[in-house]
Amino acid sequence: MAKERRFIAGDVPLMTTTLWDFPSQNYGDGKQGDTNYVGATPSYVIANLLHRYTDPADIVLDPMAGSGTTPDVARDLGRTPLAFDLQSSRKDIEPADARSLPLKDRSVDFVFVDPPYSTHVKYSGKPECIGELDARDGGYFEAMEVVIEELHRVLRPDRYLALYVSDSFQRKKPFVPIGFELFAQLRQRFTPIDIVGVVRHNRTLMRNHWHTSALEGNYYLRGFNYLFVMYKEPSPGYKPRKVGAPVPENARPPKKSGAPSRKRRPYRK
Ligand SMILES: C[S@@+](CC[C@H](N)C(=O)[O-])C[C@H]1O[C@@H](n2cnc3c(N)ncnc32)[C@H](O)[C@@H]1O
Repeated sequence: MAKERRFIAGDVPLMTTTLWDFPSQNYGDGKQGDTNYVGATPSYVIANLLHRYTDPADIVLDPMAGSGTTPDVARDLGRTPLAFDLQSSRKDIEPADARSLPLKDRSVDFVFVDPPYSTHVKYSGKPECIGELDARDGGYFEAMEVVIEELHRVLRPDRYLALYVSDSFQRKKPFVPIGFELFAQLRQRFTPIDIVGVVRHNRTLMRNHWHTSALEGNYYLRGFNYLFVMYKEPSPGYKPRKVGAPVPENARPPKKSGAPSRKRRPYRK
């Protein structure tokens, strides 16, 4: 791990490895989204993505915005939010089905999506809710295929999409590697940039009896979420725009003048 931490703003650490672990759901003294919303995304995750993969004023789409974490973070970082959900919880989240968004082709600069993970959480209960579809019978993946196609349609080329998801395990039911399955679906249309593991700190994991049951039943509790970062390729001949998190000035090591280059030690088994 890095010896010294770098920050995007306030207490939001700029992550430099593929293992992300945050102290809480929300950064700073403010509130992003609603921590009481079951399934809310940790706002640190979205802040790190926007810092790396977007420019100021870029349009940031969340087609399953839930309690509104993405639009809140987007505004904090000076980006332009666009948020939809089947069940709108606030005025700035328009009701829409993520499989058919009221958006033009190639009209947004970044997509963040945290879909339901099979039937683990009850959302609106509407028949169109993807959280009503069990990942064990295929309907879930058929629906997600259409969501991914729609997100590819509305994203501009030479831009990024991130999908945050967990696998599905329920007692006495087969394990479903949702992460691997969705990653394979994403790869049909996008180029993978990276896969991050985000440590989960939900309330379930605080309860002792869940850990006892996991030992007795010889299964594991979900300890991490996948974060897939994908890229939509531009057409041939197009000059890609430059993105990349600006490195804070104080984070650069001082330049050594005239110092002899260090010899590499031979590798020993
Ligand atoms: C994991 S939650 C998103 C949480 C959100 N990122 C937040 O921080 O609050 C998944 C969301 O997907 C929404 N959803 C499910 N099926 C949908 C569909 N077909 N179209 C749009 N939204 C959908 C649910 O209503 C729920 O709010």
